[in-house]
Amino acid sequence: MADAQEFLKDFPLLGQKMNGKQITYLDNGATTQKPEQMIEALCHYYGGCNANPHRGAYALSVEATEIYEKARVRTAQFIHAARPEEIIFTKNATEALNLVAYSYGMTNVHEGDEILISIAEHHSNLVPWQHVAKATGARLRYIYLEDDGNLSEEDIEKKITERTKLVAVTQISNVLGLKNDIRRIVKKAHAVGAAALVDGSQSVAHMAVNVQDLDADFFAFSGHKMLSPMGIGVLYGKYDILDAMPPFLMGGDMIDSVEEQDTTWAELPAKFEAGTQNVGGAAGLTAAIDYLESLTFDRVEAIEKDLVGYALPKLRALPYIELYGCDSRRPNKTGIIAFNVRDVHPHDVASILDSFGVAIRAGHHCAQPLHHYLGQNASCRASFYFYNTRADVDRWIAALQKVRGVLGFGA
Ligand code: ALA
Repeated sequence: MADAQEFLKDFPLLGQKMNGKQITYLDNGATTQKPEQMIEALCHYYGGCNANPHRGAYALSVEATEIYEKARVRTAQFIHAARPEEIIFTKNATEALNLVAYSYGMTNVHEGDEILISIAEHHSNLVPWQHVAKATGARLRYIYLEDDGNLSEEDIEKKITERTKLVAVTQISNVLGLKNDIRRIVKKAHAVGAAALVDGSQSVAHMAVNVQDLDADFFAFSGHKMLSPMGIGVLYGKYDILDAMPPFLMGGDMIDSVEEQDTTWAELPAKFEAGTQNVGGAAGLTAAIDYLESLTFDRVEAIEKDLVGYALPKLRALPYIELYGCDSRRPNKTGIIAFNVRDVHPHDVASILDSFGVAIRAGHHCAQPLHHYLGQNASCRASFYFYNTRADVDRWIAALQKVRGVLGFGA
């Protein structure tokens, strides 16, 4: 169970009011709030040792380099990568996924090949693959869904074939909140010689991830969805695969030597980190990892499970609420609840909830093909994190009960 007081002291924003209302923050799928410990690490870097890393012989630059490379080591430990060089820092998960699309996809996918993704992908793990398919003449195929929102078993069985060159799926859908059986999908991909990419944006802050156990070739995530600053993301890739890939972005610090007409590339991971690195973001990421590891994922998962178990019966009791992905026959529901209020546009729902201090996301959540598949243009989404409480759920449901009345509909 979440202890509001315990986390309030760490998260300065959560105890505050916005427009005179206590903030009830239920948009953690979009970004999480930040603990004091992470903010301090960021301030310590910018206030105490800011310098350009990897480029200076002076003490400040050496310290910035140490902070940056320590973050790489901590990130590798956090997701159980075999070596730190397999961690590439990016701007966010979107950039990490584009890196794979451009550097791996454009090189290894050819006309007649197939790329397989799920219909539940975020646009970040969908649009780049549309682009690769169009540019190479490959075919983009989809794993559709069972009635309960889980990936279709039949599609997983039938659509991973000798023609498949890459399977790219999310570990947890950012709309349905259902956790996919990644190990099984990766195993099937490898059995036909395809590479497997996992979008970990909605999972890595909520459950323990072991990339070696998953055997994923690539794993991407954003720092800001796991207590860290915006602007730092991670691409994990198996060393030999990354080593064989051409660079994505070109510029400073990713070269070995540059002549007038030709350049040779630096070793991993520098080859994929062109330009001045985000040392502040990396310092924040280290602090976030420390925070999560001391909290433990057993605790994070238990709190989120409790909140979902508490909220769902209350939502089901409201006859005008339609839920998506909440009837999984497997115990793979995570702390994300997508819903609609009958007759009311999701943007109106979100605005009315906001007037009660409740922050949710409304729209297509960067997953338009999924919404079309579900027969919806848009939905509302509440997404929990460990600092949320049952009192937050109560405030959300109480506000939700007012929505139709505010708009003049009957219950
Ligand atoms: N990808 C983020 C979300 O699902 C922004 O809300």
